[in-house]
Amino acid sequence: MNWYSKPPMIIGVPKETFPGERRVALVPGALPALTKAGLDVLIESGAGREAGYPDAAYQEKGARIAARRAEVFSTADLILQVRGFGTNPEAGRADLELFKPDQIVIGLHDPLSFPNAAKELAGRGVTVFALELLPRITRAQSMDVLSSMATITGYKAVLLAAETLPRMFPMMMTAAGTIAPTRLFVIGAGVAGLQAIATARRLGAVVQAYDVRPAVKEQVKSVGAKFVELPLEAGSAEGEGGYAKAMDEAFYQRQREMMARVVAESDVVISTAAIPGKKAPVLITAKMVEGMAPGSIIVDLAAENGGNCEKTEAGRTVTVHSVTIIGTVNLASTVPYHASQMYAKNIATLLLNMISKEGKFQLKMEDEIVRGTLVTRGGEVVHPQVRALLGLPALPASGQKEI
Ligand code: NAI
Repeated sequence: MNWYSKPPMIIGVPKETFPGERRVALVPGALPALTKAGLDVLIESGAGREAGYPDAAYQEKGARIAARRAEVFSTADLILQVRGFGTNPEAGRADLELFKPDQIVIGLHDPLSFPNAAKELAGRGVTVFALELLPRITRAQSMDVLSSMATITGYKAVLLAAETLPRMFPMMMTAAGTIAPTRLFVIGAGVAGLQAIATARRLGAVVQAYDVRPAVKEQVKSVGAKFVELPLEAGSAEGEGGYAKAMDEAFYQRQREMMARVVAESDVVISTAAIPGKKAPVLITAKMVEGMAPGSIIVDLAAENGGNCEKTEAGRTVTVHSVTIIGTVNLASTVPYHASQMYAKNIATLLLNMISKEGKFQLKMEDEIVRGTLVTRGGEVVHPQVRALLGLPALPASGQKEI
């Protein structure tokens, strides 16, 4: 019998330590569903403060407050975080020695980009679930934090552009003449791109969008944008789980050539094009930036993964040929109240999917959500893709286990 097998199971939420991170993994509104399932919740004092959730709000919903971070780690059976060690490698290192063997941690760990962090957690005996690896199936939609954060990112990107652009978004007929609407172009109409389109339309911009996945065309139209038709052979661009596949450099070269005119005509370009686990494709060259009108804006939401624009600098705003390029990172954290609310709903749903009627944690390996997100267990990295990245041999498949 493991040390944590006696109910009630304790769920711990430490304060986020990544610099500038304002989100929190659980909000008070998510607690009733957990306590009803027989779980106890322990929150580090101040964990929700920056997101607008004071300690008292958690206590009202039945949580206990831990004065010290170490108490959360030493008491909890399962830790919920926004940024796990992989996505918080510097500040997160201090938590490594606080983890107990067999403790479970659920959060964003980005193990496909940072497999060594997963290996270190495995070395501590921690059982890690990484939310980036959630399979894109209908049942998992309510657990999908990437979609939730992308929604917020798309919305906020448009606000940033509107704030920076020396023009107004809507068309206006005034006594001082007619103001032409802003022309905005969205590259990559996934979750963030579609929300950017909807937000820009609400502000009155004229919006166009392009995506390599042909299925997106109808969605783009339904949120009020024109789909830019490029005579590119992108038929096989949709890969596993609805994500885009990486195309070859010749394809990107043709795409850049064909998009140059649309980019030049746009006052704002919002780029979101990403390929999971890979560097983002460069779709806007320095020459294309030069072709834009002075005062134009590029918001590059792929900045963290190398950027869709050749001139993007991650985490910085730069001006090139009088064009402002915003290489923003971690935008969701700038809307921490709703980002945390959505994150908490997603992570609580994922957690409850792994809790039995008796309030016990079940490792149901036949469930593709569990199997897909489990990265480490029993001192080993068990996720096949992460093992491959670490050069480790494949493991035999395993079945259900209550722990
Ligand atoms: P993402 O953030 O990985 O990529 C953003 C967009 O960029 C994608 O639409 C992709 O097709 C596009 N893109 C990639 N390369 C491009 C290029 N060279 N030019 C133009 N566009 C390019 O994608 P996101 O937003 O996370 O989701 C993609 C799809 O997955 C969507 O259809 C979404 O509805 C679906 N999805 C399904 C879920 C489920 O069923 N549980 C959950 C979340 C998303």
